[in-house]
Amino acid sequence: MTLTNEQIRERLTMERFPLASKYDPQWIFDNEMGPNALWVTECLCEAMDLRRGMRVLDMGCGKALSSVFLARELDVQVWAVDLWIKATDNWQRIQQAGLEDRVFPIHADARSLPFAEGFFDAIVSLDSYHYFGTDDLYLQYFVKFLRPGGQVGIFVPGYLDDFGPSVPDHLKGDFHEDWHSFHTADWWRWHWEKTRLVDVEVAEAVPQGWDIWMKWEETRDAAGGVPPGLGTDAAVLRADGGRHLGFVRMVARKPT
Ligand SMILES: C[S@@+](CC[C@H](N)C(=O)[O-])C[C@H]1O[C@@H](n2cnc3c(N)ncnc32)[C@H](O)[C@@H]1O
Repeated sequence: MTLTNEQIRERLTMERFPLASKYDPQWIFDNEMGPNALWVTECLCEAMDLRRGMRVLDMGCGKALSSVFLARELDVQVWAVDLWIKATDNWQRIQQAGLEDRVFPIHADARSLPFAEGFFDAIVSLDSYHYFGTDDLYLQYFVKFLRPGGQVGIFVPGYLDDFGPSVPDHLKGDFHEDWHSFHTADWWRWHWEKTRLVDVEVAEAVPQGWDIWMKWEETRDAAGGVPPGLGTDAAVLRADGGRHLGFVRMVARKPT
């Protein structure tokens, strides 16, 4: 099935995400690196206290869709940091969006960041923290860049329950190595709380997370298919039916 532009826009317009729903679906498809980066960003922002003029680190920003969204919708300044995507490529997208004065692209590894300690008012990481942040010692490095009283928020794909080392049968066929870094909301809470470096304010399975993810995969597939280099998770999500797969969001504050 191939949908018309009108049908695609209709399917991607969600009452729950009024800001993200304004954006051109083709721009999102063209720069996709995972489930709709704008829905994901709006969903995390609901749980954070981001205010105009703040300095925000967007860690693992991919093609900077989330950075553009944050700068445009919340009027914050964004340092858009990514490893797999070159800063020059993101700079072109930022210029096209007319946000050269507020979004600054940086090519860097999350474990070797070129910033002053305490520089950021807030840090976000959308669909990327699980690639580098499951190391027990990572948070102590990461929050150095956050000012006292600032918030750090992550949004990651995750599990709704802890099934231990035995992967459920219906997930086995499509199981990617990356999925070993998926965890439950409780796991993530403990992962940060035990460090005593931050006060966890939110750690939860995103309500209707599976539905959001499924809606994205089905619409993108029906709209003309998967971009080169990306797989579709529609089949495995359908088989799962919301039993195990979903999203986790977590927000914490650095004590003053
Ligand atoms: C699934 S993509 C998501 C990108 C983007 N946030 C989005 O939602 O479209 C994961 C991102 O994590 C980034 N990433 C993975 N490991 C990283 C590391 N060690 N340092 C910086 N970024 C990293 C990759 O460069 C990639 O862009």
